[in-house]
Amino acid sequence: MDTAVSATNTSAGPNDDEPYWLGRASEEQQRLRKQHFIWTKSIGYLIHPHIAPNLPEDARVADVGTGTGIWMTEAAKMSPSTYQFDGYDISSTSFIAEDSLPSNVTLNIGDFKEPFPDELQGKYDLVNIRLIIISMGGDVWQKTLRNVLTLLKPGGAIQWIEGNFFVSRGFRGGGPGSAAGHVLTQLQKHFNGVLNKRFGFNFPDWTAMYEEIGLRSVEEDVLSTDRLVDQRREFSEIGVGAVSGGLKNLAGVEKDEEGYWDVDRVEEQRRKCVEEMDDGAYFRWDLHVTIGFTPKLDFGSTPTKRRKRNL
Ligand SMILES: C[S@@+](CC[C@H](N)C(=O)[O-])C[C@H]1O[C@@H](n2cnc3c(N)ncnc32)[C@H](O)[C@@H]1O
Repeated sequence: MDTAVSATNTSAGPNDDEPYWLGRASEEQQRLRKQHFIWTKSIGYLIHPHIAPNLPEDARVADVGTGTGIWMTEAAKMSPSTYQFDGYDISSTSFIAEDSLPSNVTLNIGDFKEPFPDELQGKYDLVNIRLIIISMGGDVWQKTLRNVLTLLKPGGAIQWIEGNFFVSRGFRGGGPGSAAGHVLTQLQKHFNGVLNKRFGFNFPDWTAMYEEIGLRSVEEDVLSTDRLVDQRREFSEIGVGAVSGGLKNLAGVEKDEEGYWDVDRVEEQRRKCVEEMDDGAYFRWDLHVTIGFTPKLDFGSTPTKRRKRNL
């Protein structure tokens, strides 16, 4: 990992087996930006209220799989200027231009599936991760969690935000005569099925995973994307956009294999989804925000004292 690579440097290509199915380029940058504001409005905070007040004045915050860096640039606006935010991503393609970044935000190349360099280990008070599910699968979650926790100081916090697309489906809207959302459900089921077949796409039990690894004060917020009624349409649109975009990218590399939809089929399904949404149906899933703290090292004190001092 090259921590000195700046936002304007060229992309490092993905170095794992699975390409990033949601695509890149400025269209993806705009989608990630829009998605940031929609997700944040629904969740209601950028940094969990049980983490934010415990951060030190000179907090160092890492954003892993940072994408554009939008979470950090927005978090920096509402944090003390003494905080330092460092984003890491396997590709710089979506990075916000360096001259648009706040002075306490950096964007760097880094692969969260590979060990972080020694100089980054144990350096951060908070690690944030959001929406990297599409690069996960099988038991990669546990390995990645273990790896990113090496970035944290003792007593440091992790906040991991993911969408559970396994509960994602279409719903009948509140208006009279609304469509039922069956096409939306069909689209998501197909997406989950092909990604599961391809790389074991799955969704972990967050609380169990955090506790098994030894994190303390674990909390899992689960928010439904239809929590705010006025956001139903925008969540539906970003959901359908992401799923159909992912399926189109997949169609480009899998046209010969059975079970994958070709680009025309995906486009046809996307168009029907939009019709269903225009007829009142909406798409809904859950957002999970799971936080935990690494144990505080307190050599020399009794185990009881150590427990009391944990966050
Ligand atoms: C859906 S985007 C989310 C970006 C950002 N976290 C957000 O919420 O706006 C997923 C990001 O994870 C990055 N990514 C995928 N695999 C990665 C890896 N092994 N290491 C670092 N970043 C990775 C992708 O390049 C992409 O920018």
